[in-house]
Amino acid sequence: MQKTQAQTAILAPLPQAASYVFFKGQSTKAQLFECLMRLSPGDDLVGIGQPLAMTLGLTVADALDYPSFANSQRCLPQTPFDLLVWVRGADAGEVALKIRQWQQRLVPHFSLVSSVDAFLHRDGRDLTGYEDGTENPDGAAAAEAALDGSGASYLALQQWRHRMDEVEHCSREQMNHIIGRDQASNRELTDAPASAHVKRTEQEAFEPHRFVLRRSMPWVQSGNMGLMFAAFGCDTQAFEAQMWRMLGRDDGIEDALFAISEPMTGVYFYCPPCVGGRLNLE
Ligand code: HEM
Repeated sequence: MQKTQAQTAILAPLPQAASYVFFKGQSTKAQLFECLMRLSPGDDLVGIGQPLAMTLGLTVADALDYPSFANSQRCLPQTPFDLLVWVRGADAGEVALKIRQWQQRLVPHFSLVSSVDAFLHRDGRDLTGYEDGTENPDGAAAAEAALDGSGASYLALQQWRHRMDEVEHCSREQMNHIIGRDQASNRELTDAPASAHVKRTEQEAFEPHRFVLRRSMPWVQSGNMGLMFAAFGCDTQAFEAQMWRMLGRDDGIEDALFAISEPMTGVYFYCPPCVGGRLNLE
């Protein structure tokens, strides 16, 4: 029997260019199932959202229930999708051509609903100028954080739109206090306030420790811009613990990041493992 293996995009370094492409299922359960089982993600990533998981009767459907994250000041959006393909390439042209191939493979069972183009900025910086991913687990620890025993992964995806006017109005010191790191040296600040983003999300400060593998990328669309936040986990618990702490559920302290950015979308995807290069939904 062939071994199940995780989709390679999860642990691979970020590509130069990418697109998050969302599809809607429009065939019978049997046809959708058969279409998905034929897919080879290659170096792209395929994720199944809750509505599709329910149609297919997958046991993971309940685990894809994205919470109503909220506090007294805000309520984060929940934006379910059937299918995600994270298309990855060396440049925007390669990504565009790969999207066409995905559409051809998925037609007539899935139709493209929307897409968000993304790119690598200055070796992995967010558009605010801060390095993103520094405290990601590495090597075996990355696999342990991101994958369950079968090689499957749960992806939390949120499209954050930055208020760039606010970012530009902040002094460097104010921005450093929002993130909790020094932009130039990337060192963690010793005097960061409790609201600083890295104080809120410090993975080793949770009991038990809460690690995820972040693979976020900047995006730009019609003058708006921000970060497509993407976190892979062996389940959704670490992401949820971090998100609730960002919202200040236990201590009322909200993440300062909300002063300069906010999520416009929020959704989970189940990223099944592969057998012999093809998706395995058994
Ligand atoms: C606009 C959205 C966001 C931006 C610009 C952003 C940016 C950053 C930056 C610059 C760092 C410091 C460097 C690093 O370790 O990567 C960081 C750390 C981190 N962020 Fe975010 N982030 C965003 C949203 C989120 C969300 C929604 C979560 C989880 C719910 C999250 C979880 C984390 C974690 C776990 C760390 C590492 C903390 C540690 O262990 O020290 N981030 N982020």
